[in-house]
Amino acid sequence: MSSYAAHIATVQARFDQALAATHYEAVLVYAGQPRVAFLDDNPAPYKVNPLFKYWIPVTDSPKSAIYYEPGRKPVVFLFQARDFWHAPVSVPAAEWQEHVELVVIDDLQKLTSYLGDKLAKAAFIGEDFAEPVASWQVAARNPQALLDHLHYHRAAKTTWEIENLRVANLRAATAHLAARDAFWAGKSELEIHAAYLAAINARETELPYNSIVGLNEHGAILHYDVYETEAPAASRSFLIDAGATYRGYCADITRTYARESGLFADLVSAMDAAQQQLLTEIKPGVNYYDLHISQHLKVAGLLSDFDIVRGNPEDIYAQGFTIAFFPHGLGHFIGLQVHDVGGFLQNDRGELYPRDERHPFLRLLRPIEPQQVFTIEPGLYIIDQLLEAHVGEQAFNWQRIDELRPFGGVRIEDSIVVGTDSNENLTRDAFAKLED
Ligand code: GLY
Ligand code: MN
Ligand code: MN
Repeated sequence: MSSYAAHIATVQARFDQALAATHYEAVLVYAGQPRVAFLDDNPAPYKVNPLFKYWIPVTDSPKSAIYYEPGRKPVVFLFQARDFWHAPVSVPAAEWQEHVELVVIDDLQKLTSYLGDKLAKAAFIGEDFAEPVASWQVAARNPQALLDHLHYHRAAKTTWEIENLRVANLRAATAHLAARDAFWAGKSELEIHAAYLAAINARETELPYNSIVGLNEHGAILHYDVYETEAPAASRSFLIDAGATYRGYCADITRTYARESGLFADLVSAMDAAQQQLLTEIKPGVNYYDLHISQHLKVAGLLSDFDIVRGNPEDIYAQGFTIAFFPHGLGHFIGLQVHDVGGFLQNDRGELYPRDERHPFLRLLRPIEPQQVFTIEPGLYIIDQLLEAHVGEQAFNWQRIDELRPFGGVRIEDSIVVGTDSNENLTRDAFAKLED
């Protein structure tokens, strides 16, 4: 059996269980459609419903839908506009078509006629802001119990999903190397961003999220996506957090570079070592929350070793000082979405883990299990807004903080596939393959 055949069988089984548990006879997963800008007729970039691309690797066919009734073949209504405004219909043969009943439509009316009475018994999953979808009589719209059940089980990736994530990482790593070279060449942020896209022949809307391309101080802005068009007089440091997609699966990679040796370059190396040390702690049964805390203690160690904050690491962490330098979560599930869902779910009945108020941005609280894929992305930044709360704090070495500020910050981010005995680092393996 091919890995895709095994994947769609798993998806089908997961929907069977979810529908049985939530008492729906069938489901209609709508791919979605682009929103049009206010008072305009131009659509915003289209992003397919992740639960649609879970079934089939089709990401560019808005207004399509999948109807699934347990015990029967899924029916894919593939929407292909047939008019002179659009490119001609073409449905290249693909393996997924062997596993579904394919119905090509050019009008959603054809879907409703085809389904007839069945529509009213189906739970609808998708966006429904536009007609005729908004007026369809369905059993329920996005019922939370059904979504929770599906989202909980999505955490365990199939072999086919992992294969796609591997390729997505290879694509992103290829682009990262081009971006790094553009940084060495002294290019502007926008030029680096363009080099990234050109290296993988991608348009911006294909990326899983807005790339963060920050030179110097911009490395400290966690979601920086302004892209200066002029190169700075001196490019001292470069933080790039950028991904790629493959068959709808996402990569999410961060690397940080220092142009010259010295304090910041040493900090980047030390963070890289601390991140790799943390990777050795990932094992089934360990809680991701505990990894996050372990990483905070390592960041506390770096703050101490680099004489940024004085004291021993346990005290630095206990006093809450690490939060000022490493304010975001250690990572998140990744897959069909860059921040894949289900990180707070205790079970498939929708019960949630309680959140720790000290770590409000941590998106993953589940115990680690084989086949999960998540990122590990520790950082250390000079963020003045967070440091303000500590002004006058004797333990902080403000001179050292001033020395580091022009470099922004460091983050290293890899994606890990959990195995029973050992893990796979999708990101480092991708870079190693390219650097062979
Ligand atoms: N690039 C978004 C993140 O790292 O979570
Ligand atoms: Mn991430
Ligand atoms: Mn990232």
